[in-house]
Amino acid sequence: MADGGHREFIGVADAAALAETAANRLLTRISANSDRVAICLTGGSSPKQLYRLLASVPYAKRIPWDRVHWFIGDDRFVPANDSLNNMGMAREIFLDRFAPPANIHPIPTDAAGPEEAARLYERELQSFYGARELDSARPLFDLVLMGVGPDGHTASLFPDYPELEENRRWVIGVPKAHVEPFVPRVTLTLPALSSCREMLFEVAGQEKRAILNRLATDNTLPANRARSQGETVWLVDKAAIGGEPS
Ligand code: 6PG
Repeated sequence: MADGGHREFIGVADAAALAETAANRLLTRISANSDRVAICLTGGSSPKQLYRLLASVPYAKRIPWDRVHWFIGDDRFVPANDSLNNMGMAREIFLDRFAPPANIHPIPTDAAGPEEAARLYERELQSFYGARELDSARPLFDLVLMGVGPDGHTASLFPDYPELEENRRWVIGVPKAHVEPFVPRVTLTLPALSSCREMLFEVAGQEKRAILNRLATDNTLPANRARSQGETVWLVDKAAIGGEPS
């Protein structure tokens, strides 16, 4: 969304500090809502350390598992047990050990195709939300986790792809990925992702330095266009910044 709410950059020492900061923000978001909580997870390698932390005792015991629901912002259109499946990765690292099965909401990658999976997931999100239109007074998610790819994509919203301009649907199929793995994707759209209280990007490692530099000057890149209607936070480590965090 072009006009999101507040955006903040937080520099941290390294990937471990980044995961810890993200885990604490997630716990804070959960505590801020005494009702049913909705968290939208992300895939790729960046969130793995966070997911491992959530599976560790000090964090796991502070999560009220019965009232937290877990969604995924995008997935690769591969079987649920394929190592490329984003929700499969999150399930394996922490969800299957702690979350009630009914609270885990994967994109149905066993559907006939990515488009069909997108329609089914949109229906599931709308049924969870209780409406087919998003109301800015009532965000869909408490927290949306995000990563950024080498081309500036986020979720499976790739630069210059038509799915980036979708402003009506909540979920959409992406027939061909712009970067590896080159499998079809299913992704939430910008309006659905932005319907949250907080959007939290995790960016760590020297390999992210080039794209961070490009993001500083190119507002058209998907990762720059993805903004929460509430708070957008970028957690960036020293290796990605290329210097000491400020
Ligand atoms: C995916 C993602 C994608 C990811 C970025 C960053 O399915 O690939 O959800 O948007 O977050 O590509 O990936 P890394 O964390 O592996 O760098």
